[in-house]
Amino acid sequence: MDTVRVNLGPRSYDIAIGSREATSGLGAFVRAAVPKASTALVVGDSNTADGARKVEAALGANGLRSGFAEVPAGEASKCIVQLAKLYDALYDLAADRNTVVVAVGGGVIGDLAGFAAATYNRGLPLIMVPTSLLAMVDSSVGGKTGINHPKGKNLIGAFHQPAGVWIDLAHLATLPEREYLSGLAEVVKYGVILDTAFFDLLEASAKLVRDRKWDGLGQIVAHCCRLKADVVEKDEHETTGLRAVLNYGHTFAHAYETCGGYGTLLHGEAVAIGMTDAARLAHAMNFVGADFVARQTKLLEELWLPTAPLVTYPTDDLIAVMKRDKKAAGGKMKFVLPTRLGEVKLFDDVPEALVRAILEAR
Ligand code: GLY
Repeated sequence: MDTVRVNLGPRSYDIAIGSREATSGLGAFVRAAVPKASTALVVGDSNTADGARKVEAALGANGLRSGFAEVPAGEASKCIVQLAKLYDALYDLAADRNTVVVAVGGGVIGDLAGFAAATYNRGLPLIMVPTSLLAMVDSSVGGKTGINHPKGKNLIGAFHQPAGVWIDLAHLATLPEREYLSGLAEVVKYGVILDTAFFDLLEASAKLVRDRKWDGLGQIVAHCCRLKADVVEKDEHETTGLRAVLNYGHTFAHAYETCGGYGTLLHGEAVAIGMTDAARLAHAMNFVGADFVARQTKLLEELWLPTAPLVTYPTDDLIAVMKRDKKAAGGKMKFVLPTRLGEVKLFDDVPEALVRAILEAR
């Protein structure tokens, strides 16, 4: 079993990574991460309910009185209605500050249950049990929680670090293919933004990784968690611009997700398209050559990820969403763009005409 420590002073925590049978060890992990816990609300969705029930049983066996809440699977659940249902479940459980919220699922469950934990009673401890690749390598780590506004992805949220993250790699074997491939987009992202050697490794083993035949998948997950932890440790609340590098491709991606209707594209699929747009934009700005765009595109395509939207969205609509993105300031769009493989920077002076050209030149 691997452990990645996220060092954030009093908010430090462990990411435990292993391939275990079901939930053995999880109860002890929760007890160690949240020693004062007496009750737990386990949150799952219609796809993870069985696993979430097992988590509930494991916590019960470790002396925690627990409740269970299930929301419909899919991005549309990151909304105020489902959030209110979690608040009701916490109320019904008579939750207090000794109640831990345990999120069992992909990025949607982590963000939604995490935001409920961040806000109920002004903050409850949170344990992440990510079951999708995307949640394992990105969204369960770093403390971003939130829900979508109908006109903008993740516009309502809070930083709330988990007390622990429990990754069971066994989930990867049963993940639907589209979900698994979607998570690979965030894996590629780490190579592009931070780690050339990791990008090289992904290129060399793309087909094996895509087909889940790469026996170092656990190492890939652990490596992504370590890379993310290093960034979060330096800029927990995204105030210096350093953490913003993790948003590579996300300004475009969030616009596609919002304009397409939440859940039409999986988040990772939108990120793959967004990273391609960001690379094309960086090339148009003369930051990188055409070879960079081609190399990144080839890897994404080998992982069967989309690199262009399947439908055309009105440019004005996409631009309007980008101007309200969380990174935007004073109506000015900001983009994380590559300057070479392994390095990206945040730019706030990209001419709108160039962005429009990237969106329209397909
Ligand atoms: N997913 C980007 C971040 O956690 O900062």
